[in-house]
Amino acid sequence: MATAHTGSEPAPTGDAAISINGLKKNFGALEVLKGIDLDVAAGEVVCIIGPSGSGKSTLLRCVNLLEQPTAGTIVVNGADVTDPDCEIDVVRRHIGMVFQQFNLFSHLNVLDNLTVAQRKVLRRSKSEAEQVARKNLERVGLAGREASFPAQLSGGQQQRVAIARSLSMSPSLMLFDEPTSALDPELVGDVLAVMRSLADEGMTMMVVTHEMAFARDVADRVVFMDDGFIVEQGGPHQVIGDPQHERTKTFLSRVLNPTQVDQAGEFTAPATATDQGSSGPAIVQDKPVVDPRDPTR
Ligand SMILES: Nc1ncnc2c1ncn2[C@@H]1O[C@H](COP(=O)(O)OP(=O)(O)OP(=O)(O)O)[C@@H](O)[C@H]1O
Ligand SMILES: [Mg+2]
Repeated sequence: MATAHTGSEPAPTGDAAISINGLKKNFGALEVLKGIDLDVAAGEVVCIIGPSGSGKSTLLRCVNLLEQPTAGTIVVNGADVTDPDCEIDVVRRHIGMVFQQFNLFSHLNVLDNLTVAQRKVLRRSKSEAEQVARKNLERVGLAGREASFPAQLSGGQQQRVAIARSLSMSPSLMLFDEPTSALDPELVGDVLAVMRSLADEGMTMMVVTHEMAFARDVADRVVFMDDGFIVEQGGPHQVIGDPQHERTKTFLSRVLNPTQVDQAGEFTAPATATDQGSSGPAIVQDKPVVDPRDPTR
């Protein structure tokens, strides 16, 4: 479990899997990331929350260089990905990324979706790749669906296939960008359950999410971003249950009480205390119930 931190100071360095220093990213004249310092320790689960447009996806995409930083350094597993001499394809092999849209190959069945990159990139044999794929399908509760095509699966099942595909590349860390936000509410829990089990197994994870109950229960650290900055970070109960900054309080009250509108049409903070007895916003019990004996349900 990570030590809690408040304010915008970075977490202490140590055995950092990801070390981000002074990261800036501009799109033309638009400054999207304005100086991000963030370390993620091996085995740590960091959930990133914040309003739309605050730069969460851009931050995640900079980690595996899907976006080229404007300034700053990002070291992943000891390799400086911002160094022009860095062999980014080698670094990327160790980074799994799961997006809101599942990005499965629609013309390939589940097994082929899971084996194609293993064979091409990792040069695994067909039998080894299939063995790894089957193990990971089982891990996400989808054993037996090898022959299905993406269109024959629910959104939640497709997202679990996408996670299994990432896992089949044997990543040392996983980046998730709102993996459940395109899903019907009743399908969210199964995906979160898979992510929770990955966290329990010690996977290093950076997760952009609006699922506050997940962040509260699974994250070692919650990072609140706004307008290209880290405004506040710390333990989940601290940041979500007892936020210190006004922006964090306002954001959380909107996320946790989306239908609460005052007479002027402005959102208002909840009137009651939290489930932890502190003065921050209440946690909505939005965690869907998953049958642990049958995660495919
Ligand atoms: N490729 C791009 N070109 C130009 N502007 C971009 C690009 N990608 C992102 N932006 C802008 O950067 C800002 C931050 O975008 P980003 O997608 O990182 O936000 P976010 O916090 O992930 O938001 P959301 O919660 O809506 O996903 C936005 O103003 C967005 O329009
Ligand atoms: Mg985003």
